[in-house]
Amino acid sequence: MNNIWSKYVQGTNTLYSTRKLRFNDMFAQKYKALFDLDESKKLKILEIGCGPGALAGALHRWYPNAEVTAIDRDSEFIRFANENEKGVEFIEADATNLPFDNNTFDVTISNTVAEHIKPSKFYGEQLRVLKPNGICLVLSARKGINIYPKCLDLNEYENEFWKKVQKYDNSTEKYSVCQYPMSEMEMPIVMQKYGFKDICTGYATIDLTPDNPKFSADLAYDIINANRLTTLDGIEALLHTMPEHFTVEEINKIKRLTNTKYDKRIEQYNCGKKQWDTYVSVIMSMRGIK
Ligand SMILES: C[S@@+](CC[C@H](N)C(=O)[O-])C[C@H]1O[C@@H](n2cnc3c(N)ncnc32)[C@H](O)[C@@H]1O
Repeated sequence: MNNIWSKYVQGTNTLYSTRKLRFNDMFAQKYKALFDLDESKKLKILEIGCGPGALAGALHRWYPNAEVTAIDRDSEFIRFANENEKGVEFIEADATNLPFDNNTFDVTISNTVAEHIKPSKFYGEQLRVLKPNGICLVLSARKGINIYPKCLDLNEYENEFWKKVQKYDNSTEKYSVCQYPMSEMEMPIVMQKYGFKDICTGYATIDLTPDNPKFSADLAYDIINANRLTTLDGIEALLHTMPEHFTVEEINKIKRLTNTKYDKRIEQYNCGKKQWDTYVSVIMSMRGIK
């Protein structure tokens, strides 16, 4: 059982709540234009590093003729995905040693995974399992815009708490997170180096602004609560990553303070007191051919 990522790096709530928004059906056309797949075909699609399964679930809805398989090496993500996203085959597996024969898939896809895996393995394995002329899609989140509402401002106690977290945080090296970061210029060069041709890049802007009237109340709550869950997951993880520096009481206090602030934001939303906080992700898509 491997649950390193879900326990120490990013919790299930964080990845599932944020990705359910990022891959919400309202953005489907933007992604489909970038993916440029032949929808009439019964495509065999493999998602690499699927986490709790939100993108795989979206692919199943957006390409109903396709057969979607998704792998991740974190057992907890795979358990959760199997329970919550129907119509996809989720398998616990390592992207550097995929349990599939050569020339099996028409499409491989990943979201925010390339930066964590050695490029020779990441691309090498996808090249191997793709059929000739198969399509490799690599999605990554670039610099976006995050503007938080005033009610989330940190008080002095919270400021000290987060400074202490920063001081002792060594999770990037300890859990091999983002060991292969690359710029928008480097990404296609590396993809070509490892055997892909006809590479195209494109960008989708995913704008999540709860006060924007184009979002339903349910979506606005989901946007606010995705940030709440991400913060709470981050706080909870400290009990595993740096137990020597934080007591359970400290963690519970920060969680309570965090919840109070997000409750306030929901209250403002319900009263129509617009804050115009906004979370804009810029998703880069690379498309290469085997
Ligand atoms: C930033 S998360 C992204 C998860 C998911 N794609 C999403 O967007 O929610 C990176 C994921 O890559 C997975 N991962 C990292 N190295 C892996 C490997 N060698 N094999 C399989 N999965 C891996 C982690 O378990 C984690 O789920």
